[in-house]
Amino acid sequence: VKKILIDCDPGIDDALALALAHGSPELDVVGVTTVGGNVDLEHTTRNALCLRDYYGMDAPVARGAGRPLVREPRTARDVHGSSGLGGVVLPEPKSELSGRHAVDFIIDTLAASPGEVSLTAVGPLTNIALALRKEPRVAEWAREFVVMGGSYTRGNTTPAAEFNVSADPEAAAVVFGAPWRTVMVGLDLTHQARATAEVRAGFRGLGRLEAELLTPCLDFYGGHANYQDEGPAIHDACAVAYVIDPGLFEAVPARVEVETQGRFTSGMTVTDFRAPAERQNALVPTRLDTDGFWRLVGDAFRAVAAG
Ligand code: BDR
Ligand code: CA
Repeated sequence: VKKILIDCDPGIDDALALALAHGSPELDVVGVTTVGGNVDLEHTTRNALCLRDYYGMDAPVARGAGRPLVREPRTARDVHGSSGLGGVVLPEPKSELSGRHAVDFIIDTLAASPGEVSLTAVGPLTNIALALRKEPRVAEWAREFVVMGGSYTRGNTTPAAEFNVSADPEAAAVVFGAPWRTVMVGLDLTHQARATAEVRAGFRGLGRLEAELLTPCLDFYGGHANYQDEGPAIHDACAVAYVIDPGLFEAVPARVEVETQGRFTSGMTVTDFRAPAERQNALVPTRLDTDGFWRLVGDAFRAVAAG
């Protein structure tokens, strides 16, 4: 069983990524840290606590950074709704927050089990950058570092930039500059993970999980103009799936630089697949075994639904 720490901004696809992680027998979720992103930090943290109770997770939830390192916060309420989970209203959280700040939680958790914890970030990279600045050995201690963010062909927030990177490009630049290999699960990959009508038919019979969470979340998320063609891309679950089974992905090593200066390209992940080995800082998944991915997700959701 692999240990995973998930840094997130729930967020509809973040919520589904947490369900995938919790429902997978291959993973032990050792912590959930929150960051401002899709919605403000108060809401992302509240959502993480509600989801912890709702799924029956026992990993602590630690609150992190509410603002990007340098820039003004920018949310994605149009995609995730003003609360962050579309129209879903979960019961008031009973769980208490961890007493530690997310940055310290990340550092302490990795320090306690060097080489064992897969660090997975599916929101803006503010907490991860702060953790690396406070304790550079984080880069050494992580078993691997997987991020949902960036792209090598296109953006979603702007034509050039993906949301998680463009929300805090300076933080992303710190993270990609750290001495570890970042696995960049970007839009080119995640757009292969669409919750089509056929995929959603596979979630039938999941009882309350389906009625209270999956259906309203996916209806809301799938209503966004970005997704009306083939159904919404479940971005964040792809990063968790990579940790569970990298064999579902084809991946190519590359040099990735984050643009922080561009007038029109700020937050772009400039990806050089031809960089020589000594310049490579990233591994970039390019192709997903879609059937295998949805099988993993379906099995995990069934496990969560069964409690
Ligand atoms: C990413 O941005 C957020 O809106 C999603 O939760 C995902 O992490 C996709 O660009
Ligand atoms: Ca997210």
